Amino acid sequence: MTIFDKQNELKAYLKPFLQEKKTIGFIPTMGALHEGHLSLMKKSLKNNDYTVVSIFVNPTQFNNSDDLEKYPRTLEVDAEKIKSLNPEIIIYAPSVDDIYEGKTVSKSFDYDGLEFEMEGKHRPGHFDGVGTIVKKLFEIVNPTNAYFGEKDFQQLAIIRKLVKKNNLPVNIIGCEIFREANKLAMSSRNERLSADERTKASIIYKTLVEAKNLFGTKSANEVTKWVIKTFKKQSVFELEYFEIADEETLLTCKRKNKNKKYRAFIAVFVNNIRLIDNISLK
Ligand code: PAF
Repeated sequence: MTIFDKQNELKAYLKPFLQEKKTIGFIPTMGALHEGHLSLMKKSLKNNDYTVVSIFVNPTQFNNSDDLEKYPRTLEVDAEKIKSLNPEIIIYAPSVDDIYEGKTVSKSFDYDGLEFEMEGKHRPGHFDGVGTIVKKLFEIVNPTNAYFGEKDFQQLAIIRKLVKKNNLPVNIIGCEIFREANKLAMSSRNERLSADERTKASIIYKTLVEAKNLFGTKSANEVTKWVIKTFKKQSVFELEYFEIADEETLLTCKRKNKNKKYRAFIAVFVNNIRLIDNISLK
C-alpha cells in the first residue's frame, strides 16, 4: 500500500498515469472511515484504473473549534481498512502545512446562492472551507472521477457548482447514503455517540420517512411544524433545522410545484455532536 503525506511526492507518482491517460478515481475524506466511504472506494475501483483516497481533517471548514478538536483521527485504522479492501489504493494523508503552506485560510467562493441555505446558515464559512480544500485536492490528484456521498447533499450540490464554474476537468459522482442497521446515516461523527445515543438516533431517519409520507397530503410548512413538535416531545436530540427544499436550488419549498423535485433535510444535535441526514420526497 502506498501512503503519501507530501503533495509533491503524490503528484510525481501520479504523473506517469496521467501521461498514459489512465483514469483516476478519487475519494476525498476526513478519515474515521466507515462502510459508506468503503462503498465509494468500491465504486471507484470498479470504474477507474487507479483509486486515490485522501484523509485530511480540513481545519478551514470547521466553524466550531470544539468540533474540529474532537473530530476522530484514526489514520492507522483507516489505512488498515483501505488495505483490506484493496492494497492498490493510493492514500494521501497530508499535514495541514503540506496543504496550506503556512496560510490556513479559505478562499471565498460564489456558488450562486446554494451556500446561503441550510448548512450555510448554521455553519458560516463552512462551504468556503470545503471549496478551498476540494479544489486544492483536485489540483493535486487530477482525478477523472470524484465520489461524494449524498448524506452531505448540499455539499455535493456545491461541489458540482464549483466544478462547473471553474471548468474543472472532473466528473462528480454522487452516491447514495449508507445507513447503519437502525437506519442512522453513516458518518464519522457517529463514532462520538454513546451506544444509547446511537440506538436512539434512529429517530432521525424515522422522522424523515414520516415527513415524506405526510408530504403526500400536507404542505411543507405543515410537515415542518410536525417535525418541530416531534423533536420537542423528546429530550435527547435538539433539532437545529428541518427544511423541505428544491433539490436544484436548495430553496425552501413555500408552495408545492409538481414539476420540482423536493428533498427533506435535517440537522440535529445530541450532546454537542451534530448529525445531518436527508431524504428524497419523490
Ligand atoms: O465530506 C467530507 O468528508 C469533507 O467535507 C471533504 C469533502 C472531504 C472535504 O474536506
